Amino acid sequence: MCGIVGYIGNKPAYPILINGLKRLEYRGYDSAGISILNAESKIYKCRGKVNDLETHINGRNITGNIGIGHTRWATHGVPNDVNAHPHKSQNGHFTLIHNGIIENYSELRTELMDRGYEFKSETDTEVLVNLIEHLYIKTKTSAENAVRLALQRVIGAYGLVIIAKDEPDKLIAARKGSPLVIGVGNGEYFLASDATPIIEYTNKVIYLKDGEMAVLKRDNLDLSSIDNHKHTPSKVQTIDLDIGEIDKGEFEHFMLKEIFEQPKSIRDTFRGRISMEKHIISLGGLFEVMPRLVDAKRIIIVGCGTSWHAGLVGEYLLEEFARIPVEVEYGSEFRYRNPVILGDDIVIVISQSGETADSLAAIKMAKEAGALVLGICNVVGSSIPRETMGGVYTHAGPEIGVASTKAFTAQVTVLTMLAMWLGKKRRLLKEETYLKFITELQEIPDRIEDILKNNDQLKEIAAKYKDANNFLYLGRGYSFPVALEGALKLKEISYIHAEGYPAAEMKHGPIALIDKKMPVVFIAPKDDSYDKIVSNIQEVKSRGGIVIAVVNEGDKTIKGMADHVIEVPETNLALMPLLTVIPLQLLSYHIAIMRGCNVDQPRNLAKSVTVE
Ligand code: F6R
Repeated sequence: MCGIVGYIGNKPAYPILINGLKRLEYRGYDSAGISILNAESKIYKCRGKVNDLETHINGRNITGNIGIGHTRWATHGVPNDVNAHPHKSQNGHFTLIHNGIIENYSELRTELMDRGYEFKSETDTEVLVNLIEHLYIKTKTSAENAVRLALQRVIGAYGLVIIAKDEPDKLIAARKGSPLVIGVGNGEYFLASDATPIIEYTNKVIYLKDGEMAVLKRDNLDLSSIDNHKHTPSKVQTIDLDIGEIDKGEFEHFMLKEIFEQPKSIRDTFRGRISMEKHIISLGGLFEVMPRLVDAKRIIIVGCGTSWHAGLVGEYLLEEFARIPVEVEYGSEFRYRNPVILGDDIVIVISQSGETADSLAAIKMAKEAGALVLGICNVVGSSIPRETMGGVYTHAGPEIGVASTKAFTAQVTVLTMLAMWLGKKRRLLKEETYLKFITELQEIPDRIEDILKNNDQLKEIAAKYKDANNFLYLGRGYSFPVALEGALKLKEISYIHAEGYPAAEMKHGPIALIDKKMPVVFIAPKDDSYDKIVSNIQEVKSRGGIVIAVVNEGDKTIKGMADHVIEVPETNLALMPLLTVIPLQLLSYHIAIMRGCNVDQPRNLAKSVTVE
C-alpha cells in the first residue's frame, strides 16, 4: 500500500527513483511524486500513474544524487495533485514520503494549526512533516532527533523517508508496521518498500526492523530504535531475485504472465521439498516445531482475500488427510472479535505479501495467547515470516499483478504438502496412498500446461459474456473455495458483480437471481458430489440460466446440459483446486481486457494492504 523509494549516492537520482516507482506501482497507483535534493529541491507530483508523472516532469532538468519518490494508494484525502506525496513542511525544512496511517492526525493537526501551521492537503502525511518541523524549530535539535520526537507522538503505522534541507548529506527513514528495505551499494544506499526497485543495482539488503530508524549517508548507515537506542545493523542479506522475474517479458500484462507461469511456480514451490527416492516431503521451516504440529488439537488458519480462499482449501486438506480440526478466519475479523485461542493451538497465517496489516495483527494476538504461530508467505524477508515462529515460503516468485493468481496455487501447494506430511506423521495415510498422491502432485504442473492450451476457448467464452452484469460461481467440497476465488478474480479486475457460493446453498437464496442474462459458472469435477452438482446445473437450466461448467475431460453428462464446458484433466480430487482455478483466472482476465479494464492495476486496489 503506497510504494516508497529513496536514493543517496553518486549516481543521478531521478532515473533510479522513476524506475523504482514503476516497479512499485502495483502497491498503489492513484498519484505519484518525487523530490530531489538540489538547489531548488522542488517537488514534482501529480494525480495518476507513474507514466503521468514522467510526462509531467519530461523536459525538465532534474539533477541531484539524493532523492525520494512515492506512488500512492489514498487513505486520507482523495487522489489529486495536492494530496500526492512528497509533502514539504511549511517552512521548507523537511520533505516527507509516507506509507501507512497516522491515526491521531486530526488532534495533531489541530495542535499545529493553533501554532500557526496551515495545511494545503487533506493528508495525515502533511501533518507529520509539519510536526517534525515544529519540533525541530522548537527544540533546536538535529533533523533526526526532530523525526524521533515526532514519531514518539504518533499513533499509527508508517514506513517513511525524509529529506532535511539543513542536513543535505543524508536520508532519514523509519518504519512501524510498513515495510522498508535498504539496498547496500558501493558508496550508495537505496531504500524501498520492497526489493524490486533495488535489485537491478544491488542484491545486498538490510530489512529495517519494526520500530527502527535509519540515517543513511553515502558511506554510512546508522540504525537505532525510535526512542534512540543504538542498534547494530542487521546482517546484510543477499537476495536471490532475478530481474527477469519482475518484467512482463513477452506478455502484455503481469497477470497473464503470472497465470502462465504457474507450472513453473508450482514446481518451484515443491522443489527440494519432495523426494520420491526417500518417499518424503520435507518442509525445512517446520522441522523445529514438528512435534507440536503433529500433536495439534486444532489449527486456525488466518488470511485475507485470496489467501483466505487458499486457507479454505487447506481446511479441507488438513481435515481429510491429517484429521486435525481446522478453522479458517479472516485476519480482520479474528483480530477484533475476541476469539478463543488456546495455548496448544497452531495458528497458520497465509499471505502473499507477508505485510497484510490484519494478518500481522492476528499474529500478535495469537502469540500473546501462547499459540504456535506459523506463516505461509511468498515475499522472502517480509514482516510475517519475521514475526512467526516457523513456516514455509511459497517461492512463487514476485507477483506483480494486483489480482493474485500464482500465489494462490503456490499457497495451496504448500498446504497440500503440509496435509500429506502431517497425515503421514500421524500414521493416517497408507504408504501407497501417500506415494500416489505426491506423484500426482508433481504432475500438476504438466496438467496445468494442458489447461493453458485452452486459452483461446476461454477468450471465446469471455467475448460472449463480457457485458453481463452479474455472475454466479458454484462448487461443492474442494470446489467451493475455487468458486469463491473465481468470483473474486472476476469482480476485482472486470468490476462485474460476482458471487461464489456452495452449490447446494443456491436454493436457499441465490437461485432467485437466475435469469437468462446470468452466467453461472459451475466447478464440477467428477468428485463424490458430482451427481448432486448435476442436479444443481439442471435447476439453473430449468430457470433459463446460462451454464459455464469446468469439468473433467470426457464428461458427457454435463456437456449435454451446459452452454459451455471447459475441460481439465483428472487428478486426485484433493488436488483439483490447483487445476480448476486456472480457467477461472483466464476467464476473468479476458473479460476484463475486453471491457477495457486495467487488469494489473484495478481501480481502488493495491497489492499489499498494509492498513486496516
Ligand atoms: C485478490 C488479492 C487480495 C489478497 C489479499 C491478501 O486477488 O490479491 O485479496 O489476496 O489482499 O493479501 P496477502 O496474501 O498479501 O496477505
